[in-house]
Amino acid sequence: MTRSQIALIALTLLALTACRNDSEVKPVHAEGDLERGRLALTQYACHSCHVIPGITGSSTFVGPSLSGMASRPMIAGKLPNSRDNMMRWIMQTQDVDPGNAMPDMGVTEQHARDMVTYLDSLK
Ligand code: HEC
Repeated sequence: MTRSQIALIALTLLALTACRNDSEVKPVHAEGDLERGRLALTQYACHSCHVIPGITGSSTFVGPSLSGMASRPMIAGKLPNSRDNMMRWIMQTQDVDPGNAMPDMGVTEQHARDMVTYLDSLK
């Protein structure tokens, strides 16, 4: 084998590993992380208005309970329940339903994605 053939093989292997690493990282980002979601729901104090299964909170029911959220057809009676719409609701509540009692809370995209993953687990 020539030196340049060896170099070519080494490069190909490098490229392959780089690709594999990429595809291992992306789905996690795209799907969110359940534990980070649980934490974010607490950090943004969502549980101060909502009863959320698995998260200890107050018992003031300003907003509806989020139990069984994954099985519900609609979000706040406004949007069909999908991951994208849930992210929209969490990040731009007041655009979706101006004047409703849930404030825009400046939730970042990554935090919203993680929250959606958590809410998705509430069957
Ligand atoms: C100040 C109280 C308050 C806070 C804080 C709050 N919400 Fe809400 N939320 C509400 C109210 C009120 C509604 C009902 C809005 C409507 O039906 O128009 C609601 C609705 C929802 C719904 C739809 C529920 C359903 O039955 O369809 C989801 C999901 C939700 N909130 C998630 C969150 C998340 C996630 C956070 C934290 C980022 C959060 N909320 C923070 C008050 C709050």
